Amino acid sequence: MNTSRSLLQIIAERLDTGTIPLPILHPSTEGLHATLSGGGLELKQAKQLMLQDPTFCIHLLRAANSDFYAGMTKVGTIPDAVKRLGPDRTLSLVAEIMTGQNHRLRDPILNELARALWTHSIVCARGAAWLMRKAGYPELSAELYMVGLLHDIGKLLVLRVLDELRDCSDVDLCLEESSLRDLVDANHDQHGHRLLKQWNLPERYCDMAREHHAFDFDPDDVELSALRLVDAAATKIGAGWSADPSLVLSAMPEAAGLGVNDVALAELEIMMEDSLARISPVPLASSAVPTPQDEQTVTLPSVKLASEA
Ligand SMILES: [Fe+2]
Ligand SMILES: [Fe+2]
Repeated sequence: MNTSRSLLQIIAERLDTGTIPLPILHPSTEGLHATLSGGGLELKQAKQLMLQDPTFCIHLLRAANSDFYAGMTKVGTIPDAVKRLGPDRTLSLVAEIMTGQNHRLRDPILNELARALWTHSIVCARGAAWLMRKAGYPELSAELYMVGLLHDIGKLLVLRVLDELRDCSDVDLCLEESSLRDLVDANHDQHGHRLLKQWNLPERYCDMAREHHAFDFDPDDVELSALRLVDAAATKIGAGWSADPSLVLSAMPEAAGLGVNDVALAELEIMMEDSLARISPVPLASSAVPTPQDEQTVTLPSVKLASEA
């Protein structure tokens, strides 16, 4: 049995407990502590935070799709979730998340990986929303924004597990960064799918988390194709853990399935590069939020999910 395999087994056992607290990735949440303790967090800021951090986002959707609302249509967007929960419950939920558990990763290498994952998730979310509008499916752009934000949630889980394992004297985690990345990558699609299912998120979100790297997939599934295209585009422009400028998006079957041409794909890359360049730790506690580019990119209509039809 090699070390890598042993670690994968240990990670799987930890994940089986179902009690792994997700880390917060947004780099500007420190300033929120003071705002929260002063009771001054506004709903607008809370919404913006949820649109920019997978952990806040998934906790809100989980609350809005909890057993208490069983039998009601599953909600898949932040505005719909806030509408269902109400402003008071939404704000108290943000406070609970901020103060309830330690969401920070202590290990510096894992922390850097988490920061890069945050960048990747935001760029994918914005790219996915843009691409759906460009491809002629504006009604799906809000949903795809959320899927872009959450598709790698399985990596977050494993990052947290590895951070906790650093404290275990019987586990040797003296690994190179590339080996840590491999560990986080391994099965993250399955881990993400399981978490989203456990937390009652819309079925389509769960399916796309599981299939975003699948070898066999349906290129006529426009949502999944869009997600896979922006995921590849993010890798092409280096928004994440690796960069591969040699990727040719137009050669991917996803491009044909979605019906987007070379020009549109070139525009997508430019849009995502621009988004990547503009990502900076905006102080959420200041009056500067939300950022104009977020307002521009994320249009959030009330969307009925295809899986609920
Ligand atoms: Fe992934
Ligand atoms: Fe990804």
